[in-house]
Amino acid sequence: MTIIVTGGAGFIGGNFVLDWIATTGEPVVNLDKLTYAGNLETLKSLEGDSRHTFVEGDICDRALVDSLLATHRPRAIVHFAAESHVDRSIHGPGEFVRTNVEGTFTLLEAARAYWNGLEGQAKADFRFHHVSTDEVYGSLGPNDPPFTETNTYEPNSPYSASKAASDHLVRAWHHTYGLPVTTSNCSNNYGPYHFPEKLIPLMIANALAGKPLPIYGDGQQIRDWLYVTDHCSAIRTILAKGKVGEVYNVGGWNEKPNIDIVKTIIALLDELKPSAEGSYARLITYVTDRPGHDRRYAIDARKIERELGWKPAETFETGIRKTVQWYLDNQDWVQNVLSGAYRDWVAKNYAGREAV
Ligand code: NAD
Ligand code: DAU
Repeated sequence: MTIIVTGGAGFIGGNFVLDWIATTGEPVVNLDKLTYAGNLETLKSLEGDSRHTFVEGDICDRALVDSLLATHRPRAIVHFAAESHVDRSIHGPGEFVRTNVEGTFTLLEAARAYWNGLEGQAKADFRFHHVSTDEVYGSLGPNDPPFTETNTYEPNSPYSASKAASDHLVRAWHHTYGLPVTTSNCSNNYGPYHFPEKLIPLMIANALAGKPLPIYGDGQQIRDWLYVTDHCSAIRTILAKGKVGEVYNVGGWNEKPNIDIVKTIIALLDELKPSAEGSYARLITYVTDRPGHDRRYAIDARKIERELGWKPAETFETGIRKTVQWYLDNQDWVQNVLSGAYRDWVAKNYAGREAV
């Protein structure tokens, strides 16, 4: 038995591959293009492990995907590969449409051809799991109930629009062709191996470097945080027990305004790695807001809890402490990531954001 994972050198995919091999022992073929967000350092502990086969390649490459399916005969595809950063999608949406829409289409077509060629139990057991986001549902008002699986789609950024399009393709390939798919829409993840362009790792990295902590707008935007290994266990649960054609919302019941997240990180760093210059709070800097910034996301995770028995293991307090400690203990991983390309991105994204 083998599964194919796409995007397994990224943040969540990398955590998933490590977690999957540690918990199930089942081999993984990991297809990843190694964009700026892909990092083989994350998978270093699997070097020489025959259960992990890494393939550098593009999910838009149909011939490559066909040959991987023919060679490895997987029982499932778990699809993480995507362009994932909202700010980058505002600066350059083209790559988001290519990878997230065309890439998902290519995978679905290859999976459909492969699945049509399977027989008996192998055909009945095959699954295509699509990893998506709560951002497809749009933005909530302060008193709206959290997103359920039947919420209307109202994507607001080029990123969320491209993910919404990919969700629709997955749904249609099941409805029209019978492809055995499941989809999960998850809230904001955090934890080890998170690329330091996203809020939590960026704040940790900037604080340790004595750089400003850029808070977009008023800092009162709300996200619902989930520790990454809880997302991995949710996907494992869906693969094992999820119903074909169903969507599962995954979240940690941890709604927090951004400024509170930053203050929590500051308190932990003040405790674990105090600065000679005083509290890291001195670095908080309010900057120009993200265009079209969604105000609030929140996930109603009761369906996966009720139907599949999944629950997150970490609270925000335990997860954020582990995360800050991981970054303190793994500064070499962070330094490897802070390449020339990363510095170019920081210059581009923050240059136009005056302190306000
Ligand atoms: P990431 O940006 O850290 O990693 C994406 C990975 O995909 C990278 O390794 C990259 O090299 C690879 N990739 C990109 N384009 C590719 C292509 N054309 N072919 C093959 N590989 C390609 O992303 P992430 O944060 O780990 O997110 C993984 C998935 O989870 C995405 O689908 C994202 O939409 C979804 N998601 C993320 C979050 C979150 O908080 N990070 C929350 C909900 C859902
Ligand atoms: O909700 C799930 C989504 O969460 C995923 O689908 C995306 O792939 C993932 O990137 C994440 O999107 P966000 O836009 O919510 O994450 P980000 O870390 O970029 O920003 C979190 C919040 O923090 C958001 O309100 C913007 C704000 N922010 C972000 C950065 C990078 C700041 O205030 N300052 C910053 O420098």
